Amino acid sequence: MNGYGYSIVIGVAFFAHLLVAHPGLKKNEEEDDDINPYMNKLVKNRTKEEMENETRVDYWNWNALQAVQERLFRKLNENTAKNVIFFLGDGMSIPTIAATRVYLGGEEEQLSFEKFPYSALSKTYCVDHQTADSACSATAYLGGVKANLGTIGVSAAVGKKNCSAMNVEENHVHSIARLFQLKGKKTGFVTTTRVTHASPAGVYAHTASRNWESDTNVLKAKLDPKQCRDIASQLVFGKTGKNLQVILGGGRKKFLPKEVTDEEGNTGDRSDDLNLIEEWKKQKKEMGAKYEYVWNRKQLLNVKNDTEYLLGLFEPGHMKYNLERSKETEPSLEEMTEVAIRVLQRDTSSTSNSSAPSDNGFFLFVEGGRIDTAHHSTFAHKALDETAEFAKAVQKAVQMTNEEDTLIVVTADHAHTMSYAGYAGRGSEIFGYAGQASDSNLYTILNYANGPGYRPLMATGERYVPSEEEMNEVGFKWPSTSPLNSETHGADDVAVFANGPWAHLFTGTMEENVIPHLIAAAACVSPQIPCANFKKQS
Ligand SMILES: *[C@@H]1O[C@H](CO)[C@@H](O)[C@H](O)[C@H]1NC(C)=O
Ligand SMILES: *[C@@H]1O[C@H](CO)[C@@H](O)[C@H](O)[C@H]1NC(C)=O
Ligand SMILES: *[C@@H]1O[C@H](CO)[C@@H](O)[C@H](O)[C@H]1NC(C)=O
Ligand SMILES: *[C@@H]1O[C@H](CO)[C@@H](O)[C@H](O)[C@H]1NC(C)=O
Ligand SMILES: *[C@@H]1O[C@H](CO)[C@@H](O)[C@H](O)[C@H]1NC(C)=O
Ligand SMILES: [Zn+2]
Repeated sequence: MNGYGYSIVIGVAFFAHLLVAHPGLKKNEEEDDDINPYMNKLVKNRTKEEMENETRVDYWNWNALQAVQERLFRKLNENTAKNVIFFLGDGMSIPTIAATRVYLGGEEEQLSFEKFPYSALSKTYCVDHQTADSACSATAYLGGVKANLGTIGVSAAVGKKNCSAMNVEENHVHSIARLFQLKGKKTGFVTTTRVTHASPAGVYAHTASRNWESDTNVLKAKLDPKQCRDIASQLVFGKTGKNLQVILGGGRKKFLPKEVTDEEGNTGDRSDDLNLIEEWKKQKKEMGAKYEYVWNRKQLLNVKNDTEYLLGLFEPGHMKYNLERSKETEPSLEEMTEVAIRVLQRDTSSTSNSSAPSDNGFFLFVEGGRIDTAHHSTFAHKALDETAEFAKAVQKAVQMTNEEDTLIVVTADHAHTMSYAGYAGRGSEIFGYAGQASDSNLYTILNYANGPGYRPLMATGERYVPSEEEMNEVGFKWPSTSPLNSETHGADDVAVFANGPWAHLFTGTMEENVIPHLIAAAACVSPQIPCANFKKQS
């Protein structure tokens, strides 16, 4: 062990006057900021110059003035947003973003989207719950209407699992993808979860339960799948779903009958004998469109340059965590994003007789879906790695598009309970100790308020303290205050980052459901907001 325990005398001196003013306070209450910087292994060896720079007044002033100047000379982009790419980091709380900076090399690092000029805070509560789930949240940030927990693409007039209410057309909330389709623009989505999971389902589905991903799930709820259409069949046959040019992610089993074995030897999940992959192909063929179904990385990277409709299902369930996927057979989020943009950007109007729209612009939804699942297991290491992967996908989109005509919005659907705290030394690895707790044992930088990482007191009566070796394990479950099989979401606000046309509208603290209305206005696809103000061509 090293460098532990040089205490800062200034702290005590600073608070000394309080002792006089409040003689009743005990001494240890005065020293509530128990600052003992703990030095873990360094995340990166900074150069001598880098370290010296930070001791200089002019270094900080110079950096700040750059930032001031950048803001003073920023030009508003009031072009119509021809294209919109919406990135959703599922469960990507603000502490998750901050901790990922350190994971990537240090506190001063910036994730790709942190370089965007505008940001806002989004309030994610749902109509019936303080804390959002991915379903009601997707209805808000894609459909513009807040809803009940567990429901997707329907208003709060629809109670959870109320099948008859979900079929009432007036209760349907249409996503921003639908608005783009109605204007003859291309649409698609990419996710690392099942394509039928709650967040991507917000693009195309209307359901009273996020769990009804296949007809078997509906049957298990003792309901009739003919009445309560499952999410996978809505993706293939629904009016928004069937018009999507790009569908990439996991979840093959929700498309296949139980009797059918997929390319990787896994059986399907459907009871109705419908092979939705074949149905999708048949439908595209009947449209006279050029289509491809792919199920591995190689096929994805070799998608033909005239493909108009692309369905890619790379796993029977969620796609694997980046740290655990086969880099040969399973694509990264960045790779899927790249192919999706290529397909959507292509002007196919001259090469095809199909009714697929031409180069009118597109809407693409990209979800980093496993940040959330990692947090639920208190796998902080995986959560930060998935966030880093998500940032790479955003960077790829920035490189492939022009900020003059493409609006990129990055946000999260809810927070999580991971905290990033304590007084670890500058540059400390994030998977380390923050310092010494009042029981004289070390405590960690990352902790969860609840979750499976809870550990009872040991036989000695002492608190469990993970070792360095444990903290280095990718599958280590980080300490949690209350025991819960699945760590919960957080109710705190999430950040929104924007770049491109009308990105300057994404500021302040807003209700989450404002986001798609801003996007629709910027892209001139809103049925409510007159386009005239947003019509300048780039
Ligand atoms: C920093 O330098 C030390 C000593 O040369 C080395 O052992 C350590 O691995 C380096 N750490 C990083 C993150 O590069
Ligand atoms: C140190 O600061 C100066 C500006 O004061 C800057 O030009 C230089 O690039 C900095 N060096 C490093 C390594 O950050
Ligand atoms: C379902 O919603 C309708 C309103 O659309 C309501 O009349 C009915 O009582 C609800 N059913 C259940 C089981 O809650
Ligand atoms: C598409 O691919 C074909 C054959 O691989 C090639 O001949 C053609 O030039 C490509 N078209 C475009 C627009 O890149
Ligand atoms: C499009 O239609 C024309 C005439 O109707 C036909 O000759 C041509 O082969 C068709 N092209 C494709 C790609 O189907
Ligand atoms: Zn979740």
